[in-house]
Amino acid sequence: MDKYRAKTAYQQADEANTYDAARFVSAKGRMTDSLEKKAILKALRYVPPGARILDVPCGTGRITEFLLNLGYRVVGADISEPMMAHAKKALAEHPSMEAFYLADAESLPFKEGEFDAVTSIRFSNHVPPEIRLRVLSEMRRVSNGPIIISYCNPNSLSAMKRRLKALFRRPHAPWNPASRRTVAREASQAGLRITRGYAILPCVSETVVYVLEK
Ligand SMILES: C[S@@+](CC[C@H](N)C(=O)[O-])C[C@H]1O[C@@H](n2cnc3c(N)ncnc32)[C@H](O)[C@@H]1O
Repeated sequence: MDKYRAKTAYQQADEANTYDAARFVSAKGRMTDSLEKKAILKALRYVPPGARILDVPCGTGRITEFLLNLGYRVVGADISEPMMAHAKKALAEHPSMEAFYLADAESLPFKEGEFDAVTSIRFSNHVPPEIRLRVLSEMRRVSNGPIIISYCNPNSLSAMKRRLKALFRRPHAPWNPASRRTVAREASQAGLRITRGYAILPCVSETVVYVLEK
């Protein structure tokens, strides 16, 4: 049985068809998208253009496209074909787009050290801690370089607002935030350490993009 909703929820065509419009089209959504990308850009500082990056989960290709535009060679992987169909339609013809794989992040179909870096955005917060460790270990195995991964900070204003809302309305799925201390512990269990971290809007937004290295 799947232990978290995101593993199956995005398999629905409706969810995939409305994913970008529901999150990144409003003024707030565009700002969040832009702040996330700025943080990812900082995290990529030591990854030279031309490097080969695995974007997992790639979803509809939002971050995949960003990486391609920065001059990276990219492989996308996701467990949802409907989500990836959007990414394929937009990006499959891009000369630096190597391939898309239908794959589970818990067991990646790639060789050890095949990539120069891994990006994983808007995923860890869906995944329960024990599975997160398996996922991190897989990312570590396939990457020869940094793992650039976003987490949700439970000590931010947005996280407090989310907890307050949950008192009145049951959330549609469990949320799995992680403080810097938790990220450091989980990273260490997977043989990684935090080398840098970028809060996209310190204290306000939940999202922090970490650079984890061996
Ligand atoms: C919130 S979306 C994030 C997509 C993209 N990274 C972004 O930032 O727009 C979460 C994605 O995780 C994928 N997913 C969930 N569980 C997965 C798993 N075990 N392995 C690979 N992908 C998974 C879903 O199909 C979905 O596309």
